[in-house]
Amino acid sequence: MGKSLTRKIIESHYVSGSMIPGEEVFLYIDQTLTHDINAVMTYLAFEAIGLDRVRTECSVSYLDHNLLYVDHKTPDDHIYLQSAARRYGVYVSRPGNGICHAVHVARFGAPGKISMGGDSHTPHGGAIGMLCIGVGGMDVATAMTGVPMRLKMPRVVNVVLHGRLRPGVNAKEIILEMLRRVTIKGGLGNVYEYTGDGAAALEVPERATITNMGAEMGATTSIFPSDDAVRRFLRAQGRETDYRELLPDENAEYDEQIVINLDQLEPLAACPHQPDNVKPLREVEKKPVQQVFIGSCTNTSYADVAKAALVLQGRHVNETVSCTCAIASRQTYKALMHDGYIDMLMDAGLRMLEIACGPCCAIGQTPATEGIAVRTSNRNFKGRAGNPNAKIYLVSPESAAATAVMGTFASAEDILGADVAKLAGIREPEVYDQNDNMLIAPLPEEEAAQVEIVRGPNIRPLPVPEVPEQELHVPVSLKAGDNVSTDDITPASAEFSSMRSNIPMMSKFCYHRYDPEFAERAKVMGRSIIVGGENYGQGSSREHAAINPMYLGVKCVIAKSIARIHKGNLVNHGIIPMLFEDPADYERICQEDILEIHHLLDQIPEKRVIVHDVTQGFDFTVRLDLSENEIEVVLSGGQLRFLKKQLDGQKHTEVQKEKAQKEKE
Ligand code: F3S
Repeated sequence: MGKSLTRKIIESHYVSGSMIPGEEVFLYIDQTLTHDINAVMTYLAFEAIGLDRVRTECSVSYLDHNLLYVDHKTPDDHIYLQSAARRYGVYVSRPGNGICHAVHVARFGAPGKISMGGDSHTPHGGAIGMLCIGVGGMDVATAMTGVPMRLKMPRVVNVVLHGRLRPGVNAKEIILEMLRRVTIKGGLGNVYEYTGDGAAALEVPERATITNMGAEMGATTSIFPSDDAVRRFLRAQGRETDYRELLPDENAEYDEQIVINLDQLEPLAACPHQPDNVKPLREVEKKPVQQVFIGSCTNTSYADVAKAALVLQGRHVNETVSCTCAIASRQTYKALMHDGYIDMLMDAGLRMLEIACGPCCAIGQTPATEGIAVRTSNRNFKGRAGNPNAKIYLVSPESAAATAVMGTFASAEDILGADVAKLAGIREPEVYDQNDNMLIAPLPEEEAAQVEIVRGPNIRPLPVPEVPEQELHVPVSLKAGDNVSTDDITPASAEFSSMRSNIPMMSKFCYHRYDPEFAERAKVMGRSIIVGGENYGQGSSREHAAINPMYLGVKCVIAKSIARIHKGNLVNHGIIPMLFEDPADYERICQEDILEIHHLLDQIPEKRVIVHDVTQGFDFTVRLDLSENEIEVVLSGGQLRFLKKQLDGQKHTEVQKEKAQKEKE
């Protein structure tokens, strides 16, 4: 049997480990990316590791999410990040250049590379045949040291796309259809590899909508072949020399196959409050819509916005709707402006926002009380838009524009009728603006060594977890339900995002919207355990969802299942992720029960731990779904302590070797 594209890229970066799905493999990482609201902890960790310069081929620090600057905190963060990047040999993408994923795929990504990004939508880059993996910030700091990174060898699922999308039907419909079939937790441990004549016909930004939002299935990543469409995209970026054809073998072996016929897709909507709650748009109850947002890294390519503009052309945003648009990159904005589409949007009464994430993660444009918000972004969790009683629906840009006109759910065809066919003519530009003057290149090594890192008062030290102890006798500080997201644990908004470099302050708001008393309760308890349901920690990669509970004394999370990136973040930050062996035990535990674990350090390597519920008087068993390497990290008290030990060990070996060599001479 032949090889999948995923397997070929993994093999070309292989260092050690097993290539059997579910087992641990170690890989070289070519590129990393970070963004402003997650990155301060990453660079503080990199500083603490003590290397003089990053050891990746290319690392980029994007200042792109929180550009509102409501007080001094975010500018403090940006100044710190810019100076840290200069010090350690990292590119900076300045505010206004664009959202990390859109800029990275356009200006840095290349087929066959592996990147790790401190953001769950890093798989966006899979659109050009790259293997792009979203991880927590501590993992990005580790990848920047050049050490091989652990990855659970994925199952590879082949998604065969046949046919063509009809006009008015967007790549968003493909990923919503995937979510409908696979669900938000069905993708765990999988890479989705797209092939077929339907895949070949999609342009790179359409592919990126799919790979980007593959994160919502809990997948490791998603990828398309590097073919003619990728060549055209890189040529339009003035980077054809970075192109190389990379395809799966014709008889490639896959673990599973999914087939989607694109001709049969119709406009869809993900209804509140999960991205897999997908329905045909025509079946969504026609309630009044209060807000429409066309934006995010997922769905604001040139063609996306141009099609939305054609739906709006000669019409006006309904007087009951607040409609805004934030385009993902400066180069796309300029192309749309050049071709007259921004005029069409503005003539229709749509408000243009900064080139940034903004409303996608509740930084501005919060919906009204009980407001219905229709968005082209990728998440519709409760509170994701900043208001937990708002209801978010996810749709394509064409449907969002039609909804803005009608004031209730509508498709492009509802507005344009037979004229919807004109949307088929919209293609990506043959040449994009290639002006990189909003990128700051790394300094030469000697100059970089002189750079002083600037720390405003908002930059507080990175908290380092304690090493676990043998005996644990602690209360349950929270019993959470299913599908708790990292937004529930660490809320997003302009205000909260600006606290992320200040853990003592931010931890006071841990679980703020889910259980406002949690932070105080956990603090009073001193040390505690959190109990969770299915898919605990889904959603954004933000490691603050691990750091804040750790800072509040949480030692373990015991859940029915834990989302991939969050599990890694817990391990990295010294919280032991545990899974109920019998999920029925979840029902028997109550919040504030006292749990006891004896000989914890002896039980951890066995990957099975007996827990005694002192309050209810019963024992239950939990599993540690951790690799040998992760067990070592847990026993070391987190990734920072582990990595320092590893690097010190390396240094020691190098010194010994040098000594031996000198003695020989
Ligand atoms: Fe930003 Fe939203 Fe994408 S927060 S990186 S636009 S998912």
